[in-house]
Amino acid sequence: MSNTYDHRKAEVYNEFMGEYIVAYDKALAMMGDIKDKRVLDQGCGTGKSSRLLRKEGAVVVGVDKNPEMLSATRSSDATGIEYFLIENNDLAGIEGQFDGAFCTFVFLEVSKREELEQMVRAVYDKLKPNSLYVIVTNNPDAIGYESDFIKLESGEGFTGESGQSVIDTVKLDPPLVFHDYYWTEEDQRSILENAGFRIEQISKPISAEGQEISPFMIIHAVKN
Ligand SMILES: C[S@@+](CC[C@H](N)C(=O)[O-])C[C@H]1O[C@@H](n2cnc3c(N)ncnc32)[C@H](O)[C@@H]1O
Repeated sequence: MSNTYDHRKAEVYNEFMGEYIVAYDKALAMMGDIKDKRVLDQGCGTGKSSRLLRKEGAVVVGVDKNPEMLSATRSSDATGIEYFLIENNDLAGIEGQFDGAFCTFVFLEVSKREELEQMVRAVYDKLKPNSLYVIVTNNPDAIGYESDFIKLESGEGFTGESGQSVIDTVKLDPPLVFHDYYWTEEDQRSILENAGFRIEQISKPISAEGQEISPFMIIHAVKN
């Protein structure tokens, strides 16, 4: 099952941060100095990640395949941010090359390897040589994770193969439940490397007090 973002979900999603701030902060730090750099925000959703990039001074282009999510982007702080609705991961219609790409909480929404491969290749083609592609997604070791804010569970019949269903709950009132997909670290690594990226670092920062594991995984890839 894929995620349906009704208007309420998109609005709430636009606002909440909680424990996720740790992953965003780490990912932004990995992007380095992006002032005046042109950065692609792949799967920008409601524009939260785009606004974080903009705050760091980047010239941001956000792309998403879901019009519901894009309709909840903010116009008030949109200076320096352009948003585009895309289909089939096609970025060819977007002018110019990018100095970097950011992709937060998107890989986990993809169920098929071919789609993930297509997404990654599309970004590769749009990046200048030696540019960074920073990806935030679920930590595959964190199935069963539960904090005051997040719960990560396996879906029915889960055996640990990529593409299987996982359920991510954000403990708001009422809770936000996302039907996502599991990806092994190895599969994500091979998809990125086959597309021509090299992996510089994979980080799993602890985000909640008393926890021994991170619910997030941050991949720092570079275009060869
Ligand atoms: C959980 S939201 C994350 C949004 C944003 N990156 C953030 O951090 O707030 C995931 C978004 O990825 C988008 N998405 C999923 N697959 C995509 C694809 N293949 N191409 C573009 N957008 C995609 C969804 O429509 C959704 O808006």
